[in-house]
Amino acid sequence: MCGIVGYIGHKKAQAILIEGLKRLEYRGYDSAGIALLENEGIAVTRAIGRIMNLEAILPTEGSKATLGIAHTRWATHGAPCERNAHPHCDQSGRIALVHNGIIENYRTLKTFLERQGITFVSDTDTEVLARLIGQCYRGNLEQAVRDALHDVQGTYGIAVISADEPDCLVAARKGSPLIIGVGDGEYIIGSDAAAIVEHTAQAVYLSDGEMATLTRDGFRTTTLDAIPVTKDVHAVEFSLEEIELGEHEHFMAKEIFEQPQSLANTLRGRLDVREGQIVLGGIAEHARTLARAKRIIFTAQGTAWHAGLVGEYLFEDIAKLPAETEYASEFRYRNPLIDDGTVIIAISQSGETADTLAAVREAKLKGALALGVVNSVGSTIARETDAGIYLHCGPEIGVASTKAFTSQLAVLAMMAIQLGRRRFLSQQFAERLVDALTRIPDQVSEVLEQSDTIRSVVETLVDRENWLFLGRGYNYPVAMEGALKLKEISYIHAEGMPAAEMKHGPIALINQGMPVVFIAPHGPQYDKVLGNIEEVRSRGGRVLAVATKGDTEIVRLAEHVLYVPDVPEPLQPLLTVIPLQLIAYHAAVLRDCNVDKPRNLAKSVTVE
Ligand code: AGP
Repeated sequence: MCGIVGYIGHKKAQAILIEGLKRLEYRGYDSAGIALLENEGIAVTRAIGRIMNLEAILPTEGSKATLGIAHTRWATHGAPCERNAHPHCDQSGRIALVHNGIIENYRTLKTFLERQGITFVSDTDTEVLARLIGQCYRGNLEQAVRDALHDVQGTYGIAVISADEPDCLVAARKGSPLIIGVGDGEYIIGSDAAAIVEHTAQAVYLSDGEMATLTRDGFRTTTLDAIPVTKDVHAVEFSLEEIELGEHEHFMAKEIFEQPQSLANTLRGRLDVREGQIVLGGIAEHARTLARAKRIIFTAQGTAWHAGLVGEYLFEDIAKLPAETEYASEFRYRNPLIDDGTVIIAISQSGETADTLAAVREAKLKGALALGVVNSVGSTIARETDAGIYLHCGPEIGVASTKAFTSQLAVLAMMAIQLGRRRFLSQQFAERLVDALTRIPDQVSEVLEQSDTIRSVVETLVDRENWLFLGRGYNYPVAMEGALKLKEISYIHAEGMPAAEMKHGPIALINQGMPVVFIAPHGPQYDKVLGNIEEVRSRGGRVLAVATKGDTEIVRLAEHVLYVPDVPEPLQPLLTVIPLQLIAYHAAVLRDCNVDKPRNLAKSVTVE
């Protein structure tokens, strides 16, 4: 879950690498380092903490290097400290390596190398690979990397340079993403497109088991067994401006307030209001199979899993298709029962989450049709699923997912309507839903106008360390999502659950002043929710409700009420989640947390 960058060209590499690292900092930020090929050899500089700490100790002038590699870390093996930061070198110090992933058999390799007198200065798995490459080196870096990787088990995205080969940068991937930015006489490699977009919009996506050897005159790609591979050059879908903060203080705030636009982009060209139809070109060839499916399995992690849970309600309610939602990390190891007629839908913003990718591979192995709902264009899940739908909500930089979640909900709603029309959904109800979808972007803007109100409400509750989020039906997954957002960026402990579940235990947590957030828009279970609110109030809980605009009854029961426009129940999560995103955002700001780079987290979890 680290970020790696590499540069070979004619420009000074240091500044390009540092800028690239900053663009990837959301992938891991506990330490960073850089290796530059100077006249006297490879100069390695590393620092604990954020990239600015590394930048602060680098010479501002003087580095003439036009070849280098760099890394920002999310520690897996070895605590975050200078000694364990990347790059790591071989015993001679003439080969340097940066790595994203986990070398699973590093202990065995380490013992083997120690028997050859090799010593180690860090606790990392990565240093073992650097030492191994050094042991394999016979004057050809590409070959040394190839030989070493044949002994490696695990996942990696790596970049390697050697002091003896000043016109060579070697990269390889298995399990961790790696992109080559194709420039004019220069190449920038990165863990994702954010690192290269400032320099080029031309990208080559390495696949698992592939290597690339880059020189200033060109590059070649081969398999680990040295079989040449021809790669297509793709256009990067987003611009530099999209990954800049603009007038916002945090990327999370930018992405929350972008949702009217990002949702409009997700819906564009896919709604046929007159016919009450949905057009999803990406899965058109599988629409018949989907409509005849016996079982739909949504699989994902984190926020994407919450979207899957809403998808389950949508597919069963609107398309009358049996659906379930599985944590990919459990599904992949559970030897799942898959028969023909089973369709798996993998949901992932980054398209690189290791568990979700493995679930896709497991399901395909067992013969299921595997579809993807993904944001990152060209990502591994997008390339390995049989077909899929892109969110088109633009790059999401804030670690806490916001606009990707609402776009995932919009896509799942469109899929359910499209399938419903092929099954039992009436044109009339479909037209009503499609029409309601067209109004969602503006209605989100309306909800966002309450941001200041929400901040003042949060100010009265932000010192409470335990919160509950409760909802019913379509809004139960929203309660889960609200709790996750608060946890991951404000470090307040929070639990989300179906409102009725509270009486079966968690109600014991409620004490005087405990904040309890109810997602309570009008709907078939509204009265039940009001009953749950009474239960909480009578035990001293402080009730904050998300309710339908114009609801005067709930004001009697809740201390604070945040309103959302009235929409058909299946679309409510697209609006009811917005106040919860803002609650979490303001709580994190008020508690002076690092909103975009919360502790211990990273944007894309590419290791198990
Ligand atoms: C959400 O805010 C978190 N960043 C995390 O739970 C995330 O949703 C999860 O890691 C899945 O990521 P993906 O959508 O990129 O697969």
